[in-house]
Amino acid sequence: MKIVSTRRSQVLAGRIAEFLHKPLVDVKWTRFPDGEIYLRTGEISDQMVIVGSLVTSDDLVELLLLTDVCSSATTTLVLPYMGYARQDKQFNHGEPLSARIIARTLGSGVTNIVTINLHEESIIPFFGVPVRDLSLAPDMAATIKTLTCKSPLILGPDIGAAKLAREIAEAGGWEADHLHKVRLSGVEVRIEPKEIPVKGRDVVIVDDIISTGGTQATAASMLFEQGAASISTVCVHGVLSTGAYTHLKSAGITRIVSSDTIESACSDYSAARIIADAINR
Ligand code: R5P
Repeated sequence: MKIVSTRRSQVLAGRIAEFLHKPLVDVKWTRFPDGEIYLRTGEISDQMVIVGSLVTSDDLVELLLLTDVCSSATTTLVLPYMGYARQDKQFNHGEPLSARIIARTLGSGVTNIVTINLHEESIIPFFGVPVRDLSLAPDMAATIKTLTCKSPLILGPDIGAAKLAREIAEAGGWEADHLHKVRLSGVEVRIEPKEIPVKGRDVVIVDDIISTGGTQATAASMLFEQGAASISTVCVHGVLSTGAYTHLKSAGITRIVSSDTIESACSDYSAARIIADAINR
């Protein structure tokens, strides 16, 4: 078995390779004069693991090119973060069901897939190959223990994050609750008023994705008004688009923590161990 990665997920791939005691395949990346991506890999084996998160269109192209290089092998695609997963329905007439076409395309070139906290599990059948969707909830609980919160309240900012909040709270032996969010646009949300016993408490807002940070910042403002002592936020996928980090800091959030499913300076915990365990099984 060998591990190969896109440029986006090199560090995570390296960590997975270390856990598995398997070699990484070297890849030379460049572009043709017209901007198209060119890659050339070292020797591949008959069992391959491709690691690559999908954030931009280039990531998708890199994943597809690597699946072609590995087409003669039995290939596991590790897709730590799947962009386009939030367009999981045709919300309006004329829209693509983006998650379906992306999943179908990626699934067509590989033997099986490993994902991490997929935004919506209902898209799994679209891949057309076996998918194992792993949860980082235990790792998030372990990370929260390293923050200085004594007995934190674990809060999902919407109903979609309620299950994750409960799983994390159970793993850490804490309380969990969730808020109700209404999405007004891609960048604007409203959090419904809800009285939560946060006075003097350290609150940790948990979510699968932080993109613009609008959800967390809006929730934080309500929680501070209700007397929260401190607010941190721990997510799985730190997309951190459009200045999200500074937006969250200026909203008074103490710590902004994500995993390395999208590698950044906020990646304070890793998905590598759980991925390596799943590949070993
Ligand atoms: C949506 O349902 C997700 O779970 C996140 O809450 C959302 O993607 C966060 O987006 P933003 O950071 O832009 O508010």
